Amino acid sequence: MNVLITGGCGFIGFNLSMFLRKKGFSVVAMDNLVRKGVEISRDILEDNDIRFVHGDVRNIEDFSNVDKKIDIILNTAAEPSAIEGYKNPYFDFTNNFLSVVNVLELARKNRIKVIQWSTNKVYCGDKVNSIKRKELETRFEFDDENYNDGIDESFSVDGNDHSIYGLTKLSADLFCQEYARAFDLNIIINRFSCLAGEWQWGLPKQGWFSWWPIAFAYNFPISYIGWKGKQLRDILYVKDICELILKQIEGIDDFKGEVFNVGGGIKNTMSLMEATDYLENKFGFKPEIKFEERPRRADQCVFVNNIGKVSSTFNWEPKVNPESAMDNISGWVRENKELLDKVYK
Ligand SMILES: NC(=O)c1ccc[n+]([C@@H]2O[C@H](COP(=O)([O-])OP(=O)(O)OC[C@H]3O[C@@H](n4cnc5c(N)ncnc54)[C@H](O)[C@@H]3O)[C@@H](O)[C@H]2O)c1
Repeated sequence: MNVLITGGCGFIGFNLSMFLRKKGFSVVAMDNLVRKGVEISRDILEDNDIRFVHGDVRNIEDFSNVDKKIDIILNTAAEPSAIEGYKNPYFDFTNNFLSVVNVLELARKNRIKVIQWSTNKVYCGDKVNSIKRKELETRFEFDDENYNDGIDESFSVDGNDHSIYGLTKLSADLFCQEYARAFDLNIIINRFSCLAGEWQWGLPKQGWFSWWPIAFAYNFPISYIGWKGKQLRDILYVKDICELILKQIEGIDDFKGEVFNVGGGIKNTMSLMEATDYLENKFGFKPEIKFEERPRRADQCVFVNNIGKVSSTFNWEPKVNPESAMDNISGWVRENKELLDKVYK
């Protein structure tokens, strides 16, 4: 089967490319290399028999450089930071929405299947934050029995506090649902919460879970932006993502625009403060911590995906807990210091 992975050199795209190639798929990774560090990932892909196409998903003509009949597109390319869009909404609009319409048009004209990378930010910040919560020593948690297992797909996507990023991803998510029905296309939409793993070129503005061990390794300061560092996320490790996507590829003929909330779920949560404490124990010190009182605009204090639907549909559940994920990422940082120095020094 021929797979095109947009954003193929990014964190998810790279890991999926390597995983699917090992499973015998023919993989094309398309990327405009805008994210710092991904050119290193590109070189590794090319060494592993994965074809790289330098292309920009905002330009539909760039897809013609993929000189192979594609069966399925795994659409991971995006500007994934939730803060950049406030500086330039049009940038997020073109990268996260217009690009998806390009992918859908290709799918419509060539009968290609699509798995779309959506996000928990389709759920409005102030709606999520209005769920009653309790404050514990190192974390906030939901304190409402309706959300004992987290937030499921029935949660409203209405509102005006998604972030510009969330809004553009929601628009794309709805377009995927609509195209699937209107044009009889096999499409799955995954609303991912916090994803973590090796080869994420983490930054303070995006990819906090891998930024933490990088900050520890380089002694960079880390910031708690709002909620005293007690904001809580469910964490999904990249190997678990790859295994789910394989099952979704195998089963996609049964789905036409189905939406799934995907994450580590209620059993795999960690707060920023807990991540710091965990690494302090391992490293024997902690970097400077900066406290900012005001949370980021549209940020969610507690977000945990209810993964009941995706788990039962695909007979899948996460196997790697946040502590092991953190250990694996820390090991990656240690073992690849020379490569990381090129990006972080
Ligand atoms: N990382 C997370 O925690 C998380 C959570 C929820 C959803 N998501 C979604 O998952 C997807 C993958 O995220 P990631 O963490 O791998 O991000 P990433 O930044 O590591 O990877 C994205 C890749 O896309 C490329 N890219 C960006 N704009 C492009 C364009 N116009 N044309 C071609 N390539 C382009 C970048 O160079 C990068 O290699 C994104 O759609 C993101 O919105 C991520």
